[in-house]
Amino acid sequence: MTRVLGIETSCDETAASVVTRDASGKPQIISNIVLSQIEEHVAFGGVVPEIAARAHVTALDGVIKAALEEASMKPADVDAIAATAGPGLIGGLIVGLTTAKAFAAALGKPLIPINHLEGHALTPRLTDQVAFPYLLLLVSGGHSQIVEVRGVGDYRRWATTIDDALGEAFDKTAKLLSLPYPGGPNVEKAAKTGDPKRFSFPRPLKGEARPDFSFSGLKTAVRRTATELAPLSRQDVSDICASFQAAVTESLIDRVARSLTRFREEHPDLPAPTLVVAGGVAANLTIRAALENSAHEAGFELVAPPLQLCGDNAAMIAWAGLERLEAGLAEEAPMSFRPRPRWPLDETSTPVFGAGKRGAKA
Ligand code: KG4
Ligand code: ZN
Repeated sequence: MTRVLGIETSCDETAASVVTRDASGKPQIISNIVLSQIEEHVAFGGVVPEIAARAHVTALDGVIKAALEEASMKPADVDAIAATAGPGLIGGLIVGLTTAKAFAAALGKPLIPINHLEGHALTPRLTDQVAFPYLLLLVSGGHSQIVEVRGVGDYRRWATTIDDALGEAFDKTAKLLSLPYPGGPNVEKAAKTGDPKRFSFPRPLKGEARPDFSFSGLKTAVRRTATELAPLSRQDVSDICASFQAAVTESLIDRVARSLTRFREEHPDLPAPTLVVAGGVAANLTIRAALENSAHEAGFELVAPPLQLCGDNAAMIAWAGLERLEAGLAEEAPMSFRPRPRWPLDETSTPVFGAGKRGAKA
């Protein structure tokens, strides 16, 4: 069985993993090491690119070693090396891809440069063996997209954000309320004890025909409310978080509903199509529950990766590498592949003004 070592360094997680298939062909994660850099960035309230790159340099060798040890493998047992080559922070990408190139050259094994977004997009096939085609909602710190996943390397972007990514909206709201980085989980935590109806924040683009997302107006509304109420009590913060979360969830569900309808129309042959949610924000339980509901109502099955595979990890990169190898889609001249800080999943889609240009993460 082919064993692929994956390396992920596009943002603030240094990660390595080995993935294969078991004797029956079922995907198997043999090891999965994720070293988060949260502590290095928390004092700055967000990811500092130079600090991230240096931390990857320091940590990556040890993380790869740990992944091989957990898999009880020697470097020579690896059949191929997959590494995130973009999109993301250039410093981290250089560290990961160069390390992977050195590893591949030293061992004489193939190198597979991977698009980080493809890692997220193919995760449901690793965890749940979901068949093509499926509809993907990718919500992370740098991206909010709806993508028709037709096959390995075959993606059509149906919707994207016209301003902030959803994770970015969570992170900015957290910062505004002085909640610690990373914002998403802390906003979710504070929202648990808050009243989602206390503030009626806008539901951006709700009801509009275009399928895209927008979250920056919400941020302005949150800022205005926070400024008016200052100084904020703990309950105020919780209520703002709960009301914000309710607003983004409602907006998200409305946007997704359009694409569910389109997917049904374009794939009438699929009796029970699949909606997949992936990316860091997929860890949000309120959003997961709301998606579950609307998918169910539309006759879709919702597949959401386990929480530890929603955020950035190298198992998804190794898996994308394995899928590419098996599909005969490995890059032709991988050793001269340059890291791509911007790298759309769907190269045919027209850019939307401002989309994907913000946020440290991919
Ligand atoms: O996929 P990811 O780990 O990195 C990127 O590729 O961007 O996503 C990170 C993003 C951050 O913006 C973080 O705040 C958000 O996902 N996030 C959450 C939650 N956990 C992480 N947002 C809302 N609720 C959460 N529980
Ligand atoms: Zn990611």
